[in-house]
Amino acid sequence: MTKRVLILPGDGIGPEIVAEAVKVLDRLAGEGLDIELDEGLVGGSAYDATGTPLPESTLQMAREADAVLLGAVGGPKWEPLDIAVRPEKGLLGLRAGLGLFSNLRPAILYPQLANASSLRAEIVAGLDIMIVRELTGGIYFGQPRGVRTLETGERQGFNTLVYAEHEIERIVRSACDIAMKRGRRVCSVDKANVLECTELWREVATRVVKQEYPEIELSHMYVDNAAMQLIKWPKQFDVIVTTNMFGDILSDAAAMLTGSIGMLPSASLNAKGQGMYEPIHGSAPDIAGKGVANPLATILSVSMMLRYSLDEAATADRIDAAVVEVLDQGVRTPDIMSDGMTEVDCAGMGDAVLAAL
Ligand code: IPM
Ligand code: MG
Repeated sequence: MTKRVLILPGDGIGPEIVAEAVKVLDRLAGEGLDIELDEGLVGGSAYDATGTPLPESTLQMAREADAVLLGAVGGPKWEPLDIAVRPEKGLLGLRAGLGLFSNLRPAILYPQLANASSLRAEIVAGLDIMIVRELTGGIYFGQPRGVRTLETGERQGFNTLVYAEHEIERIVRSACDIAMKRGRRVCSVDKANVLECTELWREVATRVVKQEYPEIELSHMYVDNAAMQLIKWPKQFDVIVTTNMFGDILSDAAAMLTGSIGMLPSASLNAKGQGMYEPIHGSAPDIAGKGVANPLATILSVSMMLRYSLDEAATADRIDAAVVEVLDQGVRTPDIMSDGMTEVDCAGMGDAVLAAL
């Protein structure tokens, strides 16, 4: 059956990097992969065209798609807007609207790029961590929220950190399912020494693993320590499972261990296996329009899409291998450039991957 993929280029470098990923999808379609691409608006560009960062038509197309490929959203142009219509709300609305509670953020160091890391090669060589971030709950979505005026006339901002047991159970299961295919070790990150909500998180995580995943070695870590351990000795981790906000922060730290945030893809999955795939980096307004962005994170997001939503693991392996081959050839975009390598632009990198495919 034909699989439908919704393409959402978004803002900033989004359209540039997505164009390279679409070249890869077009090539695969030409070779017989049964997919059909649609395109929609999201983020600041959607706001400019329609007055909202997530038009109803986009959400509808996303619901009907087997998978969504998203570039990036946001930029300084839209920062003055009310928070309710900022580009980021388009992304959060897609996550919530599709129920994409499980966000997989792999941090892999390609040996060819070991010099690009700010840490010594021995600390990061062979790094392969999977961060599983809860994506539709916690403080990002908790109610009540807002800014209120107190009796004293002073304003007070407030947000709510909430997790129901079922939300903790399903994300822990998601992390364990992945760990079973890897090193079978899960580290659950919380702030159980201070926050009741994550005290419950720890209790539920412990129960789920004990009852359902006896083969998994579960450990717990406070988030401040986890941040430190990620920098100190990142290879101690296999799978990390954590809340929405802690995952947001730790995944940026983990990404930087690998040298360039321009290399890392992500998958956000719901209970039906439907997924949204995007590079973990942002819209990079500073280089937008220059054609120099690194499209590899987006191309690797296509690989994750094939693996997790389209049941095409062998094709995903081919893309991963093509990326490795391109790195072996010494082809580099500016963000990962080093002495003796060949610098290319965004389209040049896309072409190199196609050639390697
Ligand atoms: C991410 C981003 C988003 C988040 C923003 C753009 C809303 O930082 O995907 O990590 O905070 O989740
Ligand atoms: Mg983030």
